[in-house]
Amino acid sequence: MIATAAELREKYLAFFQSKGHAVIHSASLVPDNDPTVLFTTAGMHPLVPYLLGEKHPAGVRLTDVQKCIRTGDIDDVGDAVHLTFFEMLGNWSLGDYFKKEAIEFSFEFLTSPEWLGFPLDMLGFTVFAGDDDAPFDETAYNEWRRHGVSEKRIAKHPKKDNWWGPAGLTGPRGPDTEFFYWTGPKPAPEVFDPSDKRWVEIWNNVFMEYFKNADGSYVPLKQKNVDTGMGVERVTAILQGKDNCYEPELFAPIFAKLDEIRRVPSPAEPPPAERLIADPLPASAFIMADGVIPDKNGREYVLRRIIRRAIREANRLGINTNFCAPIADVVIENYKKFYPELEAARNTILSELTREEEAFRRTLERGMREFEKMIARVPDFVQNKVVSGKNAFNLYETYGFPIELTVEMAREKNFSVDMKGYEEARQK
Ligand code: SER
Repeated sequence: MIATAAELREKYLAFFQSKGHAVIHSASLVPDNDPTVLFTTAGMHPLVPYLLGEKHPAGVRLTDVQKCIRTGDIDDVGDAVHLTFFEMLGNWSLGDYFKKEAIEFSFEFLTSPEWLGFPLDMLGFTVFAGDDDAPFDETAYNEWRRHGVSEKRIAKHPKKDNWWGPAGLTGPRGPDTEFFYWTGPKPAPEVFDPSDKRWVEIWNNVFMEYFKNADGSYVPLKQKNVDTGMGVERVTAILQGKDNCYEPELFAPIFAKLDEIRRVPSPAEPPPAERLIADPLPASAFIMADGVIPDKNGREYVLRRIIRRAIREANRLGINTNFCAPIADVVIENYKKFYPELEAARNTILSELTREEEAFRRTLERGMREFEKMIARVPDFVQNKVVSGKNAFNLYETYGFPIELTVEMAREKNFSVDMKGYEEARQK
């Protein structure tokens, strides 16, 4: 029986090794093969040149656990299944096997008692419905049917849902087939409806056979590839009978530490605010382990915002002692066996987090005080419920209070911020 994240990683790699795949270590979160992204958001970024036809030194069948960062889903973070940092299990065919074998492998790993052993009646599948660019994915549909999946459990969806390609205008893309697990009360509904959030997406098989040009047209790739991604945190939660990613062992010790810092007894389920404090810390630790230090621009600034988000949420919960480094320490302990780069960067991670936290706490206190004073004093606020661009810029220039926080605080008070005015003030 697979139960923990560590067992899941191990078994997944072993399964695909037994099918002739070479195991490769996760690439860095800082992409060096794909200029279209700031961070690796999926297993395919490090492999782009090989999907386009370059020879990979490890061969044409690969398997890996890739570290990923997604900041685009920021409003979903804190729900049951969206995380800023997550691990994606993948198996790759670089011009070798295609749909039939990919689905065969997936079916065996999902349902065989030797592997995940998920009952078929808890699973739902989607396939690409077809449009002007590419036809209905009949092969994928027929393969699922051949494996005994009921037609009521295979949904056909348009490009919006069943087509995968990374952010950016150009690059390798293709139709996909996604697998969902029913997390609601049993039995699972007879008809699969992926818009019901209790169906949780756990794995995606992308059949990368097209290249998207800058003019929007698709041309066939030199080779047909398979790119798959299975979420470690989501599958671990399911294996443990939990309905969210925050309960299994990758997060549980983080909440225990947080409760110790807050001096409250550990609650049975972490409150949503604690999720928002916990989520950014694995992301921050892993990004720093890959050599990024918080700063003013680019990915350094994205990292800074991720860290600040945790501090801001902690502040709301009344946590006013340093918590980032102690929690990052727990993160390092949790993951270091599989990711030795965390241990190697331990000192930098802890000291940078502490420095960042102390500086931001000072900014936060000053900025919040000034914001409140400003609101009380300037009639414009009260009359129009708008923070002028000049005042927002002043908060930034004089107190270092970042604009996104001004916007957030204004929103909490049902005010808006004159962003055009802010930009004008900034350009002057
Ligand atoms: N690239 C695909 C995804 O992110 C599958 O690996 O879902």
